[in-house]
Amino acid sequence: MANLLPTAPYRGTRDFLPAEMSVRHQVFTTLYQVIEGFGYQRYDGPLLESAEIYEAKSGRELAEMQLYTLTDRGDRRLALRPEMTPTVARMIAANASALQFPVRWYSHPNCFRYERPQRGRVREHWQINVDVFGTDSPRAEIEVFHLVHDMMAALGATRDMYRLRVSDRVLLDGVLTHVAGIPAELTGQVSALIDRWEKMPADQLRADAKGIGLDDDAFTRLSETLSRGAQVIDQLPEDVLAASKLAEVLDLAGDDLFEVDLRIVRGLAYYTGTVFEVFDADPENNRALFGGGRYANLAGLFTKTPIPGIGFGMGDVTLFNFLDSHGLLPAPAPALDVSVVAITADQFDAACDIARRLRAAGLRTATPLEHRKLGKEIQRSEKAGARVVIIIGAKELADGQAVVRDLRASQQQNMPLDDLVTAVTDLLGGTTGH
Ligand code: HAM
Repeated sequence: MANLLPTAPYRGTRDFLPAEMSVRHQVFTTLYQVIEGFGYQRYDGPLLESAEIYEAKSGRELAEMQLYTLTDRGDRRLALRPEMTPTVARMIAANASALQFPVRWYSHPNCFRYERPQRGRVREHWQINVDVFGTDSPRAEIEVFHLVHDMMAALGATRDMYRLRVSDRVLLDGVLTHVAGIPAELTGQVSALIDRWEKMPADQLRADAKGIGLDDDAFTRLSETLSRGAQVIDQLPEDVLAASKLAEVLDLAGDDLFEVDLRIVRGLAYYTGTVFEVFDADPENNRALFGGGRYANLAGLFTKTPIPGIGFGMGDVTLFNFLDSHGLLPAPAPALDVSVVAITADQFDAACDIARRLRAAGLRTATPLEHRKLGKEIQRSEKAGARVVIIIGAKELADGQAVVRDLRASQQQNMPLDDLVTAVTDLLGGTTGH
């Protein structure tokens, strides 16, 4: 006999059984409602794109080390999307003449990255992407930060459970040059070092800093500068402040919405200004829940008209770790509200007919497909989550009646068939858990 194949999914991908899917559905529906409440509309795009768009736009780490690539039968080089941003930039560029800017769009794609699976990191994750295109206004930053907080609040999170950490690449360059005294030609490499700041031990950082030409004094000055957060901004010259969107955001909204943290750099190549991440306050879940930023011209690969914007991706893995560790996961919804059981095969058609009427009233209703003893069937219905079992016997049917059994109260009573829908809806308290 041939060897049986393994039942485990491909490493780094996940199967979702119905109970988990029900929890995910509730969480995502809540988030869609919040996002749509701000006027964002949902779009979608293909899982496969030309590999070029990531090589040009996503930055080295994603494009060279994490891309799943393939060649199609026509010799085209394709990739499974590792993120949605290049796709949405392409879509915006293709439709720019018909769109009214600013455009507020969101999506919920699965994305593939060839990474080492570990806590918070998988090879296929789902990412809610939210972007506003066609605006330079700092009010876009403020809107997006409010949206982040509203999404978290809708899931039951309070502000002490997570941190919205924000930086600005323009501001960081200014701080490196004017406050930390880093030579201008090193700011690019030093930014890349800061991106690894919290992921590496201090000794390693110091050694890497040496490697790019920072001596011990410069390294100490850099550490000290980074730990000062928003205070360093006051030391910046006017022209740097004038070029920084985040400085404008701080003027308009104050710093109640977020914390300035210059250690947030973000690996992706397309960000040009504000960058931000949301972290669980619990350090066990140490990967970002959301990551995003402002781009001056994301669609530049596809169109000559610059289209600035700001957006973020929120990943499902870290979000569910967060909800789990803070006790915020909703319970899975049961499969059924009602089960309609025929005592013998003769009442089967009548049972199906009653089930149809209950479904039309919005109740999740099933009829058994195989004949079993009534007691067994009631047990199975309860296990499937039903609160009510309707029993159809020959005698009751002849009288135009059925038995309605309330499983929670362990009570039952005969009822006219015509009253069933109202009676069962009342029993379920008008809520069906949909
Ligand atoms: P990103 O930081 O690469 O940004 O990903 C956003 C979020 O997706 C992360 O904070 C994390 O929650 C989740 N994520 C990313 N990779 C993985 C992985 N391998 N396993 C589990 N979760 C992961 C972007 O992708 C940008 N395109 C977001 C964006 C939209 N910027 C502007 N608009």
